[in-house]
Amino acid sequence: MTVAVTGASGQLGRLVVEALLRRNAGPVVAIVRDPSKVADLAERGVQVRQASYDDAEALDRALAGVDRLLLISGTEMGARIAQHTTVIRAAERAGVQLLAYTSIPRADENPMALAREHRGTEAVLAESTVPHVFLRNGWYWENYADRVAAAAEHGVLQGAAGEGRVSAAARADYAEAAAAVLTTDGHAGRSYELGGESLTYPALAQVVSEVFGKPVDYADVSEAEYAAALEQNGLPAPFAQALANADTGIRNGWLDVTTGDLTKLIGRPATSPAEVFRAVLAQ
Ligand SMILES: NC(=O)c1ccc[n+]([C@@H]2O[C@H](COP(=O)([O-])OP(=O)(O)OC[C@H]3O[C@@H](n4cnc5c(N)ncnc54)[C@H](OP(=O)(O)O)[C@@H]3O)[C@@H](O)[C@H]2O)c1
Repeated sequence: MTVAVTGASGQLGRLVVEALLRRNAGPVVAIVRDPSKVADLAERGVQVRQASYDDAEALDRALAGVDRLLLISGTEMGARIAQHTTVIRAAERAGVQLLAYTSIPRADENPMALAREHRGTEAVLAESTVPHVFLRNGWYWENYADRVAAAAEHGVLQGAAGEGRVSAAARADYAEAAAAVLTTDGHAGRSYELGGESLTYPALAQVVSEVFGKPVDYADVSEAEYAAALEQNGLPAPFAQALANADTGIRNGWLDVTTGDLTKLIGRPATSPAEVFRAVLAQ
């Protein structure tokens, strides 16, 4: 069984490839835009094939002989439904037997701005002939890495999520879940709502305080104020707005995942935020 991973040069994709190699379930194909980024994987026996999500012909070549495919959602906001559709059409032509797509919790009804393209992609898959499974990944604790380091320095963790809870996990946890789905049977037609420990931001501030050994309080601001602060810190405006809007989503419970799907798939508890932040501290 040949398993391919798109976005294999990215942070999640690399971890999925590693998890697949550990499982030793058959040939692994890394689909990337720039093969030089994964030269180390090629040296370890991974078949590296070049294709962007915009290039149907290159995708046809990259998907030849692929049985199962992980489509990792792209990064170009606004272009992603069209790009993902190009990959899905290529998977149909290639006769892929299972396509797993990295989505967002409750994508079908989630009002967060970041959910729109995931919902659109899921809708394309719902109409597709390719058997598919939705991996509705919650937040990465790593998303908070810059924020927690700054919070420890200034004694304040800022956000716009109020008392809302976020269920996050380490990228490596979601990668293991993806590898489990790609290498075992019975997943076609399923949606997995994936998330780990569930915390409010005041509780997260407490975790940061314990890990860094410094007092940290949570300061709640409005979505607009938070977007402005992120922009002031150098984030491009659309990204700052999307992140601040995500905090509103958290405030309203849209990233609070209580299914236990992640621990069931990986067979262990998800990584705690303290473990992720300790790794950040050690860098
Ligand atoms: N759950 C969360 O908290 C969270 C947070 C951030 C993002 N995400 C989503 O999850 C995905 C994976 O996360 P990540 O941390 O691995 O992101 P990442 O490190 O930025 O990796 C994104 C990968 O997608 C590839 N890619 C982007 N656009 C592409 C295109 N048009 N054609 C081919 N490949 C393309 C990139 O290729 P290059 O190496 O060539 O750039 C890279 O390999 C992200 O892309 C995003 O959709 C989720």
